[in-house]
Amino acid sequence: MKKALLLVLGIAMVLSGAWAQAGKGALIGVAMPTQSLQRWNQDGANMKAKLEAKGYKVVLQYANNDVNTQVQQLENMITQGCKVLVIASIDGSVLSDVLKQAREHEIKVIAYDRLIMNTPDCDYYATFDNFKVGVIQGQYIEKALALKTAKGPFNLELFAGSPDDNNATFFFNGAISILKPYMDSKKLVVPTGQTEFTTIAIPAWNSATAQARMDNLITAKYASGAKLDVVLSPNDSLAIGIVASLKNAGYGTAGKAYPVLTGQDCDKANVKAMIAGQQSMSIFKDTRTLAAQVVDMVDALMSGKTVPVNDTKTYNNGVKVVPSFLCDPVYADKNNYKALLVDTGYYTAADLK
Ligand code: BGC
Repeated sequence: MKKALLLVLGIAMVLSGAWAQAGKGALIGVAMPTQSLQRWNQDGANMKAKLEAKGYKVVLQYANNDVNTQVQQLENMITQGCKVLVIASIDGSVLSDVLKQAREHEIKVIAYDRLIMNTPDCDYYATFDNFKVGVIQGQYIEKALALKTAKGPFNLELFAGSPDDNNATFFFNGAISILKPYMDSKKLVVPTGQTEFTTIAIPAWNSATAQARMDNLITAKYASGAKLDVVLSPNDSLAIGIVASLKNAGYGTAGKAYPVLTGQDCDKANVKAMIAGQQSMSIFKDTRTLAAQVVDMVDALMSGKTVPVNDTKTYNNGVKVVPSFLCDPVYADKNNYKALLVDTGYYTAADLK
C-alpha cells in the first residue's frame, strides 16, 4: 500500500517536473500594436528578450495599428500552438471572437498595457496605473502654474487619447480630477470651450491629427494675441504634433513662450523637446518594469503558480473585473531626466543629442 502510494507520488512528481520543463520551452505569442511609436518597439523587444532568457520561445508580431492584421496575427499564434498570448490591443473591444478561439485551445491571455474589453476570455491585465498617470500630469500643471496660490486666470486647452483605447479615459479622468476644481473656480479657463472627451479625443493617437487640432484651436482663439498658458496632452505622440503646431504659430520666440505641455512615454524625440524647452514633462513608464512583470505572470501561468496581481477592483472590461498588476508611473522633466533615463541605462546620453 505504502509502496503503491510512493509510486503514484513518484510518477506525479516526474510528470509535474516534465510539465514544468515542457512549460519552459513553450511558445508564447506577443502581439504589439505598431512599430510607428517608439515605446511599442521597446515593449516588444524587452518582452522577447526576457521570455527567451527564461527558456521560452517567442512569436513577436506588430500589426501596423490595423485591427484586422492583429486578429490574423493572433489566429496564427493560436494555430502555431502558443500557450499564452500577451496582447497590447489596437482596438480593445474587437478581439472577442479570436479570444474565444484561444479559450477553446486552453490558451491563457494577458492584456498588455491596454485592457481588452467586452470578453470573458481575458485572464489577466498588466499595466501602469493609468488613472495615476493623469493625476501626475494634473499635479504637474498645478505646480507649474502655482495654481494653489496664483490668481490666474490661465488659458488651458485639453487633448485626450484614442477613444478605442480604454486607457485614454483613465488618463483624462485622472488629470481632470486635479484640474476640475480650478476649472470650476475659473482659475483655469478653456477659451475654445472644448472640454468633452469625445470632442478632444484624437483617434489612433495620431500626431498629425493632434497638430491639425492645435492649429484649429490657435486660429479660433489665440490668433489675436490671447496667451495660451497650458495644454494637457495625454501622451508624447500627441505632444509632438502639438509642439509642431505651436512652433509654426511662433511659440518659442521672444515674448511668446511655449505653454506648459504634458506628455507620456518619454519617447526620445519628446525628451529632446523637454531639453529644448518645448515640452514640460513626460510620464515615464519604464517598459523594462512592465515587461519583467508580464514575464513573471507568464512564468507563473506556465508553472501552475499563483499569478501576481495587486488590483482586483479597478479594471472592469464590461464582462468582468480583470485581475491586474499596476506598475507605478513617475514623471520626467528637464530637471530629473538624466537621473531617471540616462543613469539607469534606459537611454544613452547620445540618444538624446
Ligand atoms: C499607452 C500609452 C501610449 C498610447 C499610444 C496607450 O495605451 O498606455 O503609453 O502613449 O497608448 O500608443
